[in-house]
Amino acid sequence: MVMIVKKGTLPATPHTEFYAIPGVLAREEIHGSYGFSGAWSRKVHVRYYPTEQVKAPRKADFDLVPEFPPEADILQPYHITTGLMPFEKDAIRSRRPIVHGPRTTLSISKPTTSMPPETFFRNGERHEVYFVQEGVGVVRSEYGDLGFRKDVYIAIPKGTTYRVELTSPKAWFLLIESIYPINFAPHYFNKEGQATLMSPVVETEIETPTLPPFRDARGEYPIDVKHSGGKVTRITLGHHPFDLSGWEGALYPFVFDIKSHHGIAREIHTAPPMHQTFQSGNVPHSGFSLCSFVPVMAGWHPREVPAPYAHFNVDSDELMFFCNPFYGAREGVVEEGSFTFHPGATPHSPQGNAAQKSLAGRGKVQGRLAVMLDTYFESMRITTQGYAYRDPEYVLSWDEGRVHAPKGEGWESPSA
Ligand SMILES: [Fe+2]
Repeated sequence: MVMIVKKGTLPATPHTEFYAIPGVLAREEIHGSYGFSGAWSRKVHVRYYPTEQVKAPRKADFDLVPEFPPEADILQPYHITTGLMPFEKDAIRSRRPIVHGPRTTLSISKPTTSMPPETFFRNGERHEVYFVQEGVGVVRSEYGDLGFRKDVYIAIPKGTTYRVELTSPKAWFLLIESIYPINFAPHYFNKEGQATLMSPVVETEIETPTLPPFRDARGEYPIDVKHSGGKVTRITLGHHPFDLSGWEGALYPFVFDIKSHHGIAREIHTAPPMHQTFQSGNVPHSGFSLCSFVPVMAGWHPREVPAPYAHFNVDSDELMFFCNPFYGAREGVVEEGSFTFHPGATPHSPQGNAAQKSLAGRGKVQGRLAVMLDTYFESMRITTQGYAYRDPEYVLSWDEGRVHAPKGEGWESPSA
């Protein structure tokens, strides 16, 4: 993260004697990335190191290892109707990986309950971004409390110990995981590390955790740690993990509202990099770009064709989550919660007469809302759980002989 944040109380000089509790020397921890060279945060624990385990680690009562159907080896685009997946369990146990690659995983989680009291989760192998399609609640971590609501991203660095609590009866998340840190696209920032005035994001619009008073408590506090390709091990601390008097640094969970991606339009159709919010890895050599397709004005050139061109980026697999059905190029095919997976090996395009119909939307604001991820040099595979919710007819949706019933007016202004 590019903004350095400081919360709570810390020693004036790093790594010096400090007492949050009189007479008890505080214990310092560094939560780092990229060795000691990437973003990091300093955490001040009031009494104990976070290394204190009081029970032997054991296999957790669930795992998140993806499985693959034999059909995953047949090249085809997929449309996964995540709206049909059941609401169940808590935010971690309801995770269903739907597409998976060596460095990136996308899952759907549709919980109906908060995590059990005083239990915690830590992704020890991948950084996370949740996109909230539905629901209200709080992510509590050692960094403090982050409220969430519909249409926000919640970025949680690898190694963060947290729990998800719902205040709504249910929630619906798209979860993106990467072995690399996930940050705003670096080309939006000037040499001083500040978002430029041409950028669609303003870094000061992030929401940072509110740090409550530290918990100085002994007991047994289980943390389910994901590691080694989705295996989950339960470790047990002898003290409450939320025991910081303060922290400072650039690696921490934060919330960013997708509507704070301030869309950029141009006279003729613009390609997806204009819609980029986050990226992960050493783009364009590894990792991914994550784009927010927010409502923007379609091109206003007098002969503009608002629908996109047929395209494939041969170095990228394209993964897209549709928050609503108002996407002109795919109108009649996608619905709320549709997730499309277009492998880089074949092109895709608007279907049928979508390009012709899009002419009526020239210069109008589109009502779409979608999250798109393009991988770089990483082939994704559909998982068994994703395959179970596929639309088997999707590959035929470009068949010019087919008729598609409109599910939304993708090219009309939402305010019109
Ligand atoms: Fe595309």
